[in-house]
Amino acid sequence: MTPYHRTKFGRIVLGDSLEYMASLKAKSVDLIVTSPPFGLVRKKDYGNVESHEYVEWFKPFGREFWRILKPTGSLVIDIGGAWIPGQPTRSLYHFELAVMLCRELGFYLAQEFYWWNPSKLPSPAEWVTVRRIRVKDAVNMIWWFSVTPWPKASNTRVLVPYSDAMKGLLKNGYRAKLRPSGHDISDKFSWDNGAAIPPNLIAVPNTESNSYYLRYCEKHGLKPHPARFPAAIPELFMRMLSDTGENILDPFAGSCVTGEVAERLRRKWTCVEMRDEYIQGALGRFERPVEPEQEPMFESISEGTTYKLHHPGALWNGREKPLPFDGGKKRRIRASNPA
Ligand SMILES: C[S@@+](CC[C@H](N)C(=O)[O-])C[C@H]1O[C@@H](n2cnc3c(N)ncnc32)[C@H](O)[C@@H]1O
Repeated sequence: MTPYHRTKFGRIVLGDSLEYMASLKAKSVDLIVTSPPFGLVRKKDYGNVESHEYVEWFKPFGREFWRILKPTGSLVIDIGGAWIPGQPTRSLYHFELAVMLCRELGFYLAQEFYWWNPSKLPSPAEWVTVRRIRVKDAVNMIWWFSVTPWPKASNTRVLVPYSDAMKGLLKNGYRAKLRPSGHDISDKFSWDNGAAIPPNLIAVPNTESNSYYLRYCEKHGLKPHPARFPAAIPELFMRMLSDTGENILDPFAGSCVTGEVAERLRRKWTCVEMRDEYIQGALGRFERPVEPEQEPMFESISEGTTYKLHHPGALWNGREKPLPFDGGKKRRIRASNPA
């Protein structure tokens, strides 16, 4: 397949990534980072597969991923959950995908991450805002699989600032003691390492509204890709799991966010996308040179915001009405629907 577009470090390929991967040598890719079409109950306009067919649809891609990844390599998949049509329960498809990749194809689950999108709207409205029997679905799974139990990785590439509480401990000192959980916290805990190890919860809003990409699409009359992930996602995994100059592949590239990040981080990259119109928009990402000196996108996107997770009982006042005995089966509409 001839590249549609080339940059200093990468290329965009228009076509079916299954065919493209068949042309690659075994063990030639260091990292696959991607967001495939999710298994949806209602089809989106880029050909999502229904959740009950999803695992079978994915399997041939999984086999190719296994073949082309180096033994040190990783496969990172951002995937959202889905609701079963007509009832307030969830599909298991993304868990089934993980089980298939590990049990049938031989991948290891290196770690699961959760991407919390604080700007996610409450949906499906019927269960969340009308009957009030479920909460907002604001988290995507990000599965990190590896070919062996020991993929290349270092969390030192993705450290974060210390929390205020930790800064206080570092300043005022910490008395080593046994925690109620039984953990023996040694005095090493109070060493100042300069930064903290991040958790596997990534808090990034998906609220891009004025990026160069969006302005490029508008100027050229192109519809922006409807399911983009924020650059912070591929950036985190590229930094943590690959080195400069290594080969990165996004087989479901959409608007080529992965390519833009890889270009900036000076990794070699290939983005494969089957829809021409998405690639036309993606070209805007590479219209200007993506300079390595540029501020890391991770920081510019999060703009220094710290998301605080409140204690689950923060607003609990001890008063409670009995729960609906039917689990919300009967639709009860309230006079007012507080947000
Ligand atoms: C969830 S979107 C990816 C969005 C991307 N991460 C971004 O931020 O722009 C999935 C993409 O995979 C593409 N796709 C689906 N099947 C494909 C295939 N066999 N080969 C190449 N692309 C495919 C779809 O057209 C869609 O654009």
